[in-house]
Amino acid sequence: MTGSPIRAPGTATDRLRSLLADLVVHTSRSVFRRTPWNFDRANGVETEAAVGEVALGIDVENPDGRCKYEASSLKHVRFAFGRIPEPLANWSFVDIGSGKGRIVLIALGFPFRRVAGVEYAAELHAIAAANLDRYRGPRRAAAVDLVHGDALCVQLPPGDTVVFFYNSFGGAMLEGYLDHLEGTVQGAPRRLLFIYSNPTERFRLDRRAAFRPVFEGASGYDLTWWGNRRLVVYEVGAAQP
Ligand SMILES: C[S@@+](CC[C@H](N)C(=O)[O-])C[C@H]1O[C@@H](n2cnc3c(N)ncnc32)[C@H](O)[C@@H]1O
Repeated sequence: MTGSPIRAPGTATDRLRSLLADLVVHTSRSVFRRTPWNFDRANGVETEAAVGEVALGIDVENPDGRCKYEASSLKHVRFAFGRIPEPLANWSFVDIGSGKGRIVLIALGFPFRRVAGVEYAAELHAIAAANLDRYRGPRRAAAVDLVHGDALCVQLPPGDTVVFFYNSFGGAMLEGYLDHLEGTVQGAPRRLLFIYSNPTERFRLDRRAAFRPVFEGASGYDLTWWGNRRLVVYEVGAAQP
């Protein structure tokens, strides 16, 4: 699974449209790469370059786990954080599939109780750790953790927690992760928010009684980023009878 759905272009018009879209995206990316609006340039890190699924060491035979690394934009992430009830000091924040750590670095600039990223690919986890050392941006969160592992095997921090999810996996793996989150709130009641960015499989959450959508919308146009700007925020609670 990728950040934005991949469609095999069919007709000549589709192929032309897809070529034009690629041209606009590549031009815009290379123009912004040299400006202060580029996150990496502004903060002395490398989070932008996409990484394909083979390089991630992900089992490409498993369609549910198919995924490439693609970073979210600063504007999109700030928009998502604006949906979290204040004060942020009451919340831990966890990015599931944190890649090179861009969201963790952005979250560091907010006064969360704790910030964490969980990443499966060893190479990306190592890049995230190097980025965390070099990061020149603000550090207001009380604590930060980068965890190398499979999100399905990692426990959330105790207390009220926000989980950010940008299409790291889908299908049965996503179902397994949603079961894991339901089990977490049942085992230790707390507030749990699930921010689903580019919610291509939101039907899996919408059919669960324990997942209640509390916000849906899209961040504003962003010439530095061409990902899907939609997101849905769910409150995860005990299933209502
Ligand atoms: C689309 S990228 C999102 C990166 C980051 N969250 C962001 O929005 O900037 C998805 C990431 O999920 C990671 N991933 C895939 N399956 C995972 C799993 N089971 N556990 C942890 N991370 C996983 C991939 O390696 C990839 O870095």
